[in-house]
Amino acid sequence: MAGVVGWPISHSLSPQLQNAWILAAGIDAVYVPFSVPPGRFAAFIAGMRGGPLLGLNVTAPHKQAALGLADRVSPQARAAGAANLLVFHEDGLLSADNTDGEGLLKAFAAQAPKFVPSAGPVLIVGAGGAARGAASALLAAGTPKIQILNRNPQRALNLAQTLGPQVEPLSAPPKNDVVRAWGAVINATPAGLDAASSLGVDLSALSADAVVMDMVYRPLRTPLLEGAARRGLVTVDGLEMLIGQARPSFRALFGAEPPSLDIRAMALGA
Ligand SMILES: NC(=O)c1ccc[n+]([C@@H]2O[C@H](COP(=O)([O-])OP(=O)(O)OC[C@H]3O[C@@H](n4cnc5c(N)ncnc54)[C@H](OP(=O)(O)O)[C@@H]3O)[C@@H](O)[C@H]2O)c1
Repeated sequence: MAGVVGWPISHSLSPQLQNAWILAAGIDAVYVPFSVPPGRFAAFIAGMRGGPLLGLNVTAPHKQAALGLADRVSPQARAAGAANLLVFHEDGLLSADNTDGEGLLKAFAAQAPKFVPSAGPVLIVGAGGAARGAASALLAAGTPKIQILNRNPQRALNLAQTLGPQVEPLSAPPKNDVVRAWGAVINATPAGLDAASSLGVDLSALSADAVVMDMVYRPLRTPLLEGAARRGLVTVDGLEMLIGQARPSFRALFGAEPPSLDIRAMALGA
């Protein structure tokens, strides 16, 4: 048994993706959603140690807490300061990894193949676990500067302090010349377009080759992506990122390659 833990969790498409691969691979397992409130998360993980769970994907709001509970931490999870994958080992130890960053880069490679991470600065809206994973993966891929805009400015500052001088919190809405320089804009909040516009970003100043990415995948074509596409910008959706992080998660949980299925079409039909 494996699963995904979050609060709430009913929106998650991870069970559909992972169970489709489990079935196609002929693995005798099941992947289930666990709805666990923040105050119960540590007790839930403690109770699962040494039990039937192979491991868990972790989603909001538990990614930072998950990191703190692990005995072993991958370089990716340490760099991100957040874990989206916990693996339970037979010796009772728990290891933490972060595959969100890999998922993000895979999604850009699939849907914005001309995007070069090292070509220029990137804006990330949000400063939670997903923003951390994205920022550290982009830094590792050579992005020279990442600017962070968040509703709670202190959280953006904390993220910048963890990830180093190439990450800059924006304390005021950016001027148009700053916006024009961005190679990509990534929404890493559940709020979509509202988050960007309420934070004062005027995306109409983006350059014609900027890529707009939204981590939200329900709806798939968010207002942010629709607006960008209407202006002729290349867009990357959250479902491609979800699939991109799910593949390495499947390998880690079940010790097998995810079978080659049209998992995207399947998820869209879910
Ligand atoms: N597609 C994928 O594979 C994938 C992977 C990971 C995450 N995601 C999605 O990415 C989003 C963020 O996930 P997370 O794990 O980073 O969550 P999180 O740790 O809870 O962080 C949430 C972030 O969103 C901001 N936020 C929340 N509501 C907002 C609003 N109404 N207006 C402006 N900002 C708001 C928060 O700002 P404050 O700090 O001010 O509260 C914070 O920066 C979620 O929608 C999640 O489903 C998708």
